[in-house]
Amino acid sequence: MGAACCRPTPVDFDGEVSLFHFVLLRCVGKGAFGKVRVVQHKQTRDLYALKYINKTKCVKMKAVPNVIQERRLLEEVDHPFIVNLRYAFQDDENCFFVLDLMLGGDLRFHLERLGSLPEDVVKFYVAQLSSAVEFLHQSGIMHRDIKPDNILLDERGNAHLTDFNIAVHFSERKLTGVAGSMAYMAPEILTKRGYTCHIDWWSLGVCAYELIFSRRPFRGRTNSDLTYSISKDPLKWPEDAEKKCTRAGMLVIKGLLDRDPSRRFGCKPDGEGYQELRRHPWFKSIDWDTLETKQQVSPFIPDPKKANFDASHELEELLLEDNPLKAKQRKANQDNLSAEMRQMEEQFTSYDFKKMQRRSYYPHNQQLISTATATSSGLASSRPETPANDLRPEHGVTINGESMELQGPEVEEMNKEITEKEYR
Ligand SMILES: Nc1ncnc2c1ncn2[C@@H]1O[C@H](COP(=O)(O)OP(=O)(O)O)[C@@H](O)[C@H]1O
Ligand SMILES: [Mg+2]
Repeated sequence: MGAACCRPTPVDFDGEVSLFHFVLLRCVGKGAFGKVRVVQHKQTRDLYALKYINKTKCVKMKAVPNVIQERRLLEEVDHPFIVNLRYAFQDDENCFFVLDLMLGGDLRFHLERLGSLPEDVVKFYVAQLSSAVEFLHQSGIMHRDIKPDNILLDERGNAHLTDFNIAVHFSERKLTGVAGSMAYMAPEILTKRGYTCHIDWWSLGVCAYELIFSRRPFRGRTNSDLTYSISKDPLKWPEDAEKKCTRAGMLVIKGLLDRDPSRRFGCKPDGEGYQELRRHPWFKSIDWDTLETKQQVSPFIPDPKKANFDASHELEELLLEDNPLKAKQRKANQDNLSAEMRQMEEQFTSYDFKKMQRRSYYPHNQQLISTATATSSGLASSRPETPANDLRPEHGVTINGESMELQGPEVEEMNKEITEKEYR
């Protein structure tokens, strides 16, 4: 009789998805906003990645629109080389994304351990990521934050794009808000003359260069040096470039790093840019027709015996987290919420891929995103340490028809925090 109180409450799998449906396992990542850990669905036993974002912190960092936008865009997309959303839900403290689990780790992790990656491995990733970028652009979405930290490998070594925190729908009208991680930003973002989805191809070019040569093509000790370098410096190759990369590989990278978006590889309209890229001799070894089926064997298979994650995330969680994640029942009374908390409550809606069709919120959410996440500076080393002081959030963003100013000390404070975490 007395033991009844200790029995766990049975989980209602027919009800709305919640943290009670999952067993919480180890922490594998940390980003600007959230932590990521492995979880197992208690009924299907499937493993996923759980990305969770503290709501109070999210309000403080004025990132509510970004989190809602990320949630909406993720519902919209489903692609073999994107880390797809499977469930979304919230409780009183956190917003949760349940995503495809990538056990191979992120490319920043591998780059730091290996120094650089062989050209054929990078070529394989560039092919897979091009397919994902083209899919996004065809869906009217630009990612805006393509960098090694946001490229994840599954256990068979296939590359996937993740982190839609500053992704947006684009239309004819060009954007001017500075958003992204500076070292990977296309020149047209920095010169503020307006940009569109072409910027993603540039970022992919920066990634390919960095992965092969273990340094970035454009560098600067300060943000203005870096801006100058990205906008003006001629593209230079390391002295031993030819030992690491074929001429064809360099031509593709050079084509992606063309400052003129109308000439940049990948950018010709109606998918022609992507088709041209596919036909490039560098990709002769890639069978594009079967690429998306993931039948091709990756030239780099992450070691299944090793954890491909920074162990400090798990340690930090065990030693430093004073409020460890736990499934909790929701409070019945949600009356006294602040406007931002209410917005999250209402707009970070539940999603369950087994029960619901994916859908697009566009164009209704066109203006939802703020560039409050305009992120980090990219300084010369592969691990920049100095926070950016050169972040320029969009002047006004509209949320539900209301304009929100993103200026002043809070924004600076927030940007500092984001910058520091971005490069861990
Ligand atoms: N689906 C996933 N599987 C495995 N690790 C992940 C997954 N999603 C994120 N991570 C890890 O967590 C880190 C932060 O996740 P990310 O979505 O980029 O968050 P943020 O928006 O805070 O940068 C990633 O760089 C990666 O190392
Ligand atoms: Mg990230």
